[in-house]
Amino acid sequence: MASLLQRGLRTAASRSPADAAARAMSTKTRADLLAGTGAYGGLQDEDRIFTNLYGEQDWRLKDAVKRGDYHLTKDIMSMGPDWIVQEIKDSGLRGRGGAGFPSGLKWSFMPKESDGRPSFLVVNADESEPGTCKDREIMRKDPHKLVEGCLLAGYAMRARAAYIYIRGEYFNEAVVLDEAIHEAYAAGMIGKDACGSGYDFDVYLHRGAGAYICGEETALIESLEGRQGKPRLKPPFPAGVGVFGCPSTVTNVETVAVAPTILRRGASWFAGFGNPNNRGTKLFGISGHVKNPMVVEESMSIPLQELIEKHCGGMRNGWNSLQACIPGGSSVPVLNKAQCDEALMEFDDLRSKGSGLGTAAVTMFDDTVDMVGAIRRLSHFYKHESCGQCTPCREGTSWLEDILIRMEKGDADKREIPMLEEISRQIEGHTICALGDAAAWPVQGLLRHFKKDIEDRIDDPASFDADKAFQHAWSGDPFDNSEWTDEQGSGLTYSSASASS
Ligand SMILES: Cc1cc2nc3c(=O)[nH]c(=O)nc-3n(C[C@H](O)[C@H](O)[C@H](O)COP(=O)(O)O)c2cc1C
Ligand code: SF4
Repeated sequence: MASLLQRGLRTAASRSPADAAARAMSTKTRADLLAGTGAYGGLQDEDRIFTNLYGEQDWRLKDAVKRGDYHLTKDIMSMGPDWIVQEIKDSGLRGRGGAGFPSGLKWSFMPKESDGRPSFLVVNADESEPGTCKDREIMRKDPHKLVEGCLLAGYAMRARAAYIYIRGEYFNEAVVLDEAIHEAYAAGMIGKDACGSGYDFDVYLHRGAGAYICGEETALIESLEGRQGKPRLKPPFPAGVGVFGCPSTVTNVETVAVAPTILRRGASWFAGFGNPNNRGTKLFGISGHVKNPMVVEESMSIPLQELIEKHCGGMRNGWNSLQACIPGGSSVPVLNKAQCDEALMEFDDLRSKGSGLGTAAVTMFDDTVDMVGAIRRLSHFYKHESCGQCTPCREGTSWLEDILIRMEKGDADKREIPMLEEISRQIEGHTICALGDAAAWPVQGLLRHFKKDIEDRIDDPASFDADKAFQHAWSGDPFDNSEWTDEQGSGLTYSSASASS
């Protein structure tokens, strides 16, 4: 059966996994000099999983099938759940939701035999981390990748159904996804005897109400059950007691959506990209001061500079104008320019630089940005999104913001710099969920790389030109958001900047 499947897959992909690995190796770049043995960058179109990322074709089933979705799904299922889990393990896929936990291992935690309770797959489509916008592209342009992924990942976990929890603000994405689910039911791809496999599998779409904390897996489960989205203490872990008290695995949209292609093309194809322990292709969502902000699929371990120059046309004022980068969504510590010069977009290299790949939402800051103000703004976000259960997070996130508001203006005492660090350390690791860490890390990154800016401003507050640092609209025009600010307040720490907007 395995060889039959392999032959079918080769026809589908018109080439072997070995070809892919060889081609990826032949596109090695300066990253080889930086880090050793992996295959980086130069991802070719035929190796992209998300072939409709830019919506050039229709997202509906007819075109999705032409793109290869649902090809041999029944044959893959006939290999059995354990085969699927092993393939995912062998592919080296690590979760795309932020923490990077090995996906095959995570799926293997689900019970092999039921104790009477059904098992569930829960797909995390909450995507609320600032800067992160990759899952929405999958859901609105290539939704059948996710629907087929639900079936295969769910089958591998012996799950009865999948619940996709989508953030409330993703209205259009929910409409498209809902329609894709209906199409898949009507065509027999899911539901009774899904894809003719003899396996019954349902997919439900559940809309959240737009709270960042509902992306945390146990808060998501609470919210799905109809309660306030407040994280649970672990253990028990969801694989033991998850949604509705049943074994569950919560996993990210991209993680699920890449699974069918990995299973069709083979684990070794996927493992042919990136450094050891950092395998595969990955969606990067790039924003900030680049010429063309975008979401792009690339090989893991591509150098940051290559990613920006190849796909985004570089920094708007050239690479040397780069001041800092947040490489993995707002939760991870900022990198300075010297680190950006060397950084590889992978879990291990970014961790060794004191940051992380997180959700691979890359935000580039040029030298026009006041980094104290930028991190102060992020602190406001975390304070606002704290669910309030844990004292260090509930109180500490306010303290971080309060001190940073004053530091931005130079209206602080230098003794507050170690105090700020101390507060962040007292939050980190002392809370129920990782939102506490997410609030602490950006502040720690600021202190690591921009402490001198804070000190200089305290020494001479008048030297800081708030109007110059104020970030205007892309066009340079003032923002026209007066209706919103009348209602909500401007949220600005400088009245002069407020006047200029
Ligand atoms: C505050 C907070 C918000 C999170 N938001 C998301 C999210 O929007 N999407 C997501 O996939 N994971 C999010 N996570 C991570 C999830 O808890 C979980 O680790 C992830 O969905 C697992 O998927 P993966 O194994 O595919 O990476 C968040 C975690 C925290 C602490
Ligand atoms: S860390 Fe913050 S968001 Fe997470 S449970 Fe505690 S109070 Fe809530």
